[in-house]
This record gives sequence, structure tokens and C-alpha cells, in this order.
Amino acid sequence: MSLLSPSSFFFLSLLLVLPLSLASSYPYKASYRIDCGSATSTTDPFNTTWQADDRYYTSGATSIVSEPLHFRFPHEKTLRYFPPSSGKKNCYIIPNLPPGRYYIRTFTVYDNYDGKSHSPSFDVSVEGTLVFSWRSPWPEGLARDGAYSDLFAFVKDGELDLCFYSFATDPPVIASLEVQQIDPLSYDAATIGNNHILVNYGRLTSGSNQWGPGFSNDADDFGRSWQSDAASRSPNAKSSIKSVTTRERITNTNQPPNYYPMKLYQTAIVSSGAIQYNLAVDAKLDYLIWFHFAEIDSSVTKAGQRVFDILVNDKNVTRVDIFNSVGSFAAYSWHYVAKNLSSTELTVKLVPVVGAALISGLENYALVPNDLSTVPEQVIAMRALKESLRVPDRMGWNGDPCAPTNWDAWEGITCHPNKDETAVVISQMNSSLW
Ligand SMILES: *[C@@H]1O[C@H](CO)[C@@H](O)[C@H](O)[C@H]1NC(C)=O
Ligand SMILES: *[C@@H]1O[C@H](CO)[C@@H](O)[C@H](O)[C@H]1NC(C)=O
Ligand SMILES: *[C@@H]1O[C@H](CO)[C@@H](O)[C@H](O)[C@H]1NC(C)=O
Ligand SMILES: *[C@@H]1O[C@H](CO)[C@@H](O)[C@H](O)[C@H]1NC(C)=O
Repeated sequence: MSLLSPSSFFFLSLLLVLPLSLASSYPYKASYRIDCGSATSTTDPFNTTWQADDRYYTSGATSIVSEPLHFRFPHEKTLRYFPPSSGKKNCYIIPNLPPGRYYIRTFTVYDNYDGKSHSPSFDVSVEGTLVFSWRSPWPEGLARDGAYSDLFAFVKDGELDLCFYSFATDPPVIASLEVQQIDPLSYDAATIGNNHILVNYGRLTSGSNQWGPGFSNDADDFGRSWQSDAASRSPNAKSSIKSVTTRERITNTNQPPNYYPMKLYQTAIVSSGAIQYNLAVDAKLDYLIWFHFAEIDSSVTKAGQRVFDILVNDKNVTRVDIFNSVGSFAAYSWHYVAKNLSSTELTVKLVPVVGAALISGLENYALVPNDLSTVPEQVIAMRALKESLRVPDRMGWNGDPCAPTNWDAWEGITCHPNKDETAVVISQMNSSLW
């Protein structure tokens, strides 16, 4: 028997209809903002709520940066760190996630929180694959101001594992963690597949200051923030470059699968000479480069009036005529994979053929292949064993027992790849450990 009277029922159904019609069309709802090391939830100046980190961490202790007033947001000031008594491997584990693709962003800072003037060395993995390496001593500005790092990863098992591995006795540290579900087909997953993590090596907005979630009130459905391109431009080509901006509406924006915001295309740089970006990379990996354009100069009225070539590491990879592809005031994106880089600098050059070259933004992602992970039945069995044996924290039995494969992840456990090298299996347990 329902307790609702007909009138309140009517009111309720109105409530159900209204938010739906007002809601944005972005369909991926799973989203977490965790203020690591905070026992209460906090709200930032953009009215975003950050939850306390209880329930999600495996162990560790909390602290606060040494100069809290130097940081803008509450979630940047508190930290969780993992001292040796927590074991070599510790994790944040977010359960009950719909299987899919996720944007994951961390804020990492040292700011001499422990008074030891020693920034720590540690590794970070996502879903058992090594993604970030922090090595002591960190550059001065990084240690003091901290840094946001982000990536896109598939979570197939309904549980996100973000794990930390300590070198020597250095305690890994983290200040905040954001997780946002994104379109599984974004960033050309149809071709690249779901066996890579895309680690951000630069997400540039051409001709404007940094903007996006966490930096300004501008929205981006994926949670991406866009950094100024000024520091990445090659110095020898700077003189002829100018910024252009429009308030006109740009079509083709906020569309699946990449949901690029309109703001990205409303500013650009143009140059009658070549535009060159120098991007820092790590050698040996493949990089996915995403180019963004929109013709926002109303004096360009037909195809052939603005034409330029794109050169990646001096190789001519395509010719671009934005108007010919999409017309004007419309977003146009193009991407390219640069394979097996041999140096630590990737150059991207736009060379004018007719008129001036123009670019609105540029993204560069390392394609990090997924590491092998432990066969699922063994993960379940080992977690049960951990419970029944009451394995102490200092053994670091957290996350996947064998992954990443180059971590000596769980103390006393030896792992090796299975026959066809599709997974790892536990080959030995040191019985003297209990
Ligand atoms: C945040 O919310 C408060 C109260 O609801 C409001 O006054 C303020 O304008 C909001 N700020 C932003 C940046 O939206
Ligand atoms: C660069 O490559 C494109 C197609 O890949 C081609 O149309 C263009 O002519 C090339 N540019 C030069 C200068 O060779
Ligand atoms: C990558 O390049 C190095 C030399 O720079 C070469 O030895 C290696 O075989 C290449 N790997 C692949 C997969 O092409
Ligand atoms: C087993 O653990 C003991 C004590 O920690 C250690 O001395 C020994 O080397 C370990 N054996 C193996 C095979 O890892």
C-alpha cells in the first residue's frame, strides 16, 4: 500500500521529470572526488564537493602540507602518506564502478609535510599497470606547489585499483584523487583497443590561459583541464604568432565520444610562419597526438584559403584545410600515432601552404600497454587467505598480488607469467612468513 496521496504523487512525478529535462546530455554518471587525508568532506570555490577518504584506502596516515596558505583548495592541503609500517604496497580501491572507461586525476605534493626535506621516490599504478614514477629529489617547484597528473584507463573488473609502491623506506604520498566515467569509445578506442592506458603528457589550449575543472568555472564533461600552450611553443617561431578569439557558437562540440567543450575552439593561435610545439616525452613509447582546429576567422569563406601541413618529428603527416573539412565555426579534430620514439622531445610543426596556419589545441598521450595481471581466481583466493591469516599491514598485501610485474608487490609471494603470457600466476609463497 502506498502512503503517497495523489497530490504528493503528482508533485513527485513532476520532480522526476524536471531534472531530467534540465540535465545535461552527458550520460556517464560515475564520479568520485576524494580529498585524501581528510576526515570530513570539503567544498572548493567552484562548489565542487570533495569527500573524505575513509573506506577507500588500504592503510597509511594523514598529514597536512607545511604551508597550507600557499594552496588554493582544501583538497590540496591534506595528504595521505604510507609509512614503512603500512607495507611496500598500498592502494586506493574504489569498488562498485560500472565497467567502462575512466578519467583519473591525482594531485601530488610534498611541501616538506614531514619536516625531513626529502621528497620521496615511489611508483604509482592503475589497474596493475605502472603509470607515474616519482623520483627524489623532485624539482623545487614541484615539491612545493605539487602537480596534477591524469590519464584515461579501462576498468573492467568493477573496481579501480590505484596503488603506490615505496622505494627504500620512502613513504608515497597523495593529496587528492578524481575519477570520472567517460565514453568507452573516446580517443579512438575502436582502433587502439582497450589494452592501453593513455597517460597525459600535455593537453594544450592554444592562445589562452589554463582553464577547466579545478582551474576555472569552465566545464569539461570528462573533467579534463587545459593548460596554456605558451611554454610549449618553440622560441624561434614566436614572433609572428598571434592569438585570436571569438564569442561565436562553434558547432560539433560536446559531441560523443570525446565531448570536447566549445571553449576549446573559441580561441586559437595563427601564424603566417610555421608554428612549432616541442613536447617532452619518454622515449620508446608510442604517443597519441590529438589536434584541434576551428575556422574562426570570418574572412575565410571557402576551401583553399587556409591550408597547412602538419609535421610530426619532421615527417609530413597530413595536409589540413579546415573549411574544406567542416566549414567555418565548426570543430575539427584529427589524430595521429607517433611510434616508438627515440628521443625525449616530440616536435609538432604546422607549416603554412596558403594563408596562415591556425590551431586551437593539442593533446599528447603516451600509449602505455596494460601490464599482465594476476589470474582473477588467484586474486580472490589470495584476498581470502589474507583475511584468514590476518596478514599484518607491513606485508603490503594490497591490490593485485603480482601486478605491476616489476614490483615485488606482496611480500613473501613469488609470481611468474603463465604459459601463453596472458596473465601472471603465483608460483611460490614463503611459508616462513607466518
Ligand atoms: C557556490 O554556491 C554559493 C551558494 O549556493 C553561491 O552563492 C556561489 O555563487 C556559488 N559559486 C560558484 C562559483 O558557483
Ligand atoms: C604533406 O602530406 C600531404 C598528404 O599526406 C600532401 O598532400 C602534401 O602535399 C605534403 N606536403 C608536402 C610539402 O609535400
Ligand atoms: C624501437 O626503436 C628501437 C631503436 O630506437 C629498436 O631497437 C626497437 O626494435 C624498436 N621497437 C619497435 C617495436 O619497433
Ligand atoms: C622467506 O622469508 C625469510 C624471512 O623473511 C627469508 O630469509 C627468506 O629468504 C625467504 N625465502 C624466499 C625463497 O623468499
